Amino acid sequence: MQLTDEEKRMLGGQKGKTVQYAMECLLQLGEAFDAEKMVEISYAHVHSGMALYKGDVERVESLADGQTKVRVPSSTQIGSVDIENWKAMGAPEALVRHQKRAIEAHKKLEITSTFTCAPYLMGYLPPKGSHISSVETSAIIFFNSVLGAKTNRDGFFSLFAAITGRYPLCGYHIDENRVGTHLFNVETDLKHTGDYFALGFHAGKLVQDGVPVFNGIKNPSFEQLKSLGAALATSGSAALYHIPGITAEARTVDDAFRSTVPKDEFYVGSEEIDLSYKFLTDVKQGDEIDFVHLGCPHYSIEEIRDVAEMLKGKKIDPNVTLWVCTTRAAKPMADRMGYTGIIEKAGGLVLCDTCPISTYLCQTSALPEGITIPKDAVQTMVSDSAKQTKYGREMIGCKVALGSVKSCIESALTGEWRVKND
Ligand code: F3S
Repeated sequence: MQLTDEEKRMLGGQKGKTVQYAMECLLQLGEAFDAEKMVEISYAHVHSGMALYKGDVERVESLADGQTKVRVPSSTQIGSVDIENWKAMGAPEALVRHQKRAIEAHKKLEITSTFTCAPYLMGYLPPKGSHISSVETSAIIFFNSVLGAKTNRDGFFSLFAAITGRYPLCGYHIDENRVGTHLFNVETDLKHTGDYFALGFHAGKLVQDGVPVFNGIKNPSFEQLKSLGAALATSGSAALYHIPGITAEARTVDDAFRSTVPKDEFYVGSEEIDLSYKFLTDVKQGDEIDFVHLGCPHYSIEEIRDVAEMLKGKKIDPNVTLWVCTTRAAKPMADRMGYTGIIEKAGGLVLCDTCPISTYLCQTSALPEGITIPKDAVQTMVSDSAKQTKYGREMIGCKVALGSVKSCIESALTGEWRVKND
């Protein structure tokens, strides 16, 4: 790979051992993907070092040598516990102690411990066309599609990118790899975020790592775009989608395909949307449920407001746990606006920093010594997110049901799976 003088100095160790190690790793990555050179990045969203996984916090600590600082604005992916409200969510204290060690390591590296999967809701909005490095599939697809920034589906390499300010020119950093591959003609009305999740889940299965182009979607909200991307990246491994006239890089369908012919073309009607709901629902109308999760990806303040409006003056079933997960930016606003108070009065919780599959409910983690987690804490989880339901089924091992927010709230109030036709 061609390296600049500054990159050679990093590789040669003149900027310290940690920077040298980070550059060596990025070089290996670049060589594996035949990258010609490195590009400068403007931002990194990095793996946080999760308390739930053995050796994970230690890996971040090993980079925090006291001398090394990140070279670009950097935020962290979700953590394993709400660091301020862990008792209310029933988390083991050992998890909190472990997570606090990660925060100390981030401080040394000058990484902001945002602990969210939606850093764009906290003001991290890299400009269109800029190169970045990000973990978290739902954030990656949002950055690439809605904002038009350029990132691969990174893992630990995002930390190395943050430390060096560089990333190999490969994958979605190259314009030719950002061209649409499959055309989806959406011929049904998408009523709410649940329908966008259902569409994304259906399309993600079909395109896998392709770049879907959606024709026929009208006036989606910010939250609906976030939901569509999260689902695409869950059933498949898509990292980019285009909605002509709406997302960042394509004004028209022709723009999205840049004179290439789509590999395949699909029509999406209400049957296809219903298929996703059915696939992600293990229970029947009226069956008992005990957990409702909203906020995957983390909710915006408007989404919290909608939940508060639906819960105002009501009480959820005493056998149901309701978590509304959001960012550290939205939570103080929810407090100020009275939304948190309404949700708590109804019996729910507004939580930050984590989500069900990232915390002690997850049964598939390799736990650090000294941390034990309860088994079978959730029997049936209801969510408005295709991502949380798929991974809840696989990682928490519970039954799941996917529905609109209204269906989720109705289920929380009654303790039964209640599909609302909305
Ligand atoms: Fe975020 Fe957890 Fe969903 S990390 S995208 S809330 S599965």
